[in-house]
Amino acid sequence: MNKHATPSTGWQLEQNAPEAYEEYLVPPMFKPWADQLIATAGISEGDRVLDVACGTGIVARRAASHVGANGTLVGMDINEGMLAVAKKTTADMQPPINWRQGDATDLPFTDESFEVVCCQQALQFIDDPLLAAEEIRRILAPGGRAALSVWRPLDHNPAYTVLADALEQHISEEAGAMMRSPFPAWRKEDLRTLLQDAGFDDVSLTIEIGSIRYPSTTEFVRREAASSPLAEPIKNAEKHARDTLVQDVENRLHRYIDDDGIVSPMEAYILTADL
Ligand SMILES: C[S@@+](CC[C@H](N)C(=O)[O-])C[C@H]1O[C@@H](n2cnc3c(N)ncnc32)[C@H](O)[C@@H]1O
Repeated sequence: MNKHATPSTGWQLEQNAPEAYEEYLVPPMFKPWADQLIATAGISEGDRVLDVACGTGIVARRAASHVGANGTLVGMDINEGMLAVAKKTTADMQPPINWRQGDATDLPFTDESFEVVCCQQALQFIDDPLLAAEEIRRILAPGGRAALSVWRPLDHNPAYTVLADALEQHISEEAGAMMRSPFPAWRKEDLRTLLQDAGFDDVSLTIEIGSIRYPSTTEFVRREAASSPLAEPIKNAEKHARDTLVQDVENRLHRYIDDDGIVSPMEAYILTADL
């Protein structure tokens, strides 16, 4: 076994998923993508900014320095656990971020109440993404901008293709499907049409290519599992199945393993929709 694929005795699924998400996925993945989304959003001082489906709030947190003392920042998510971590992480922040619980398809805000609305890696999880896009349009002020990101389909995100296939093979079909869910089969034109159908005439889309790095294959699998609904099926699996899962991922991702662990390209669509 390669030195990076240590046996699964180190499995510790002790944290709750939102805390694990904040610790394991936000620093290497969501934080750099948040900075890119914020740059695309073109936030100005004094803007009122909403982070829709904010999770633990990385976009709102990173936007704080852009809006300055006279701006307003609101983070909204449907999941109380994610919001609890967001609140804890920003307890001392000035100006404060207003964390709200709510559904993206029924935004709890009046019409035209934000200059910028950001939505990072969430549209694919919302039951009715068109309704969410219509809601975003409704709450944008004239001249406002929405900035959204969605992962490209799985074949552009090789580490996750391998992980999803291995989960399906060694854990369960549902575990494989869960790992595929962040990477919808949306093509460029699907997303562009969605935003146009929501009433945005001025939509632009870019393909952005980043990367993700983990210290080992074991850590890649363990951190992804701990930070998502995969925690339960993996915890419930036999130790042998978990060991085989890690070894299989290690073998299949051999070309992305180096002296520092494992690295893989990640690709996303970034869209802006202007009023
Ligand atoms: C992958 S996370 C992304 C979170 C955050 N935007 C980030 O960049 O870290 C997806 C988020 O979408 C939220 N979500 C899913 N459906 C939602 C809905 N209908 N309304 C609001 N939030 C929703 C989930 O609770 C979760 O926090």
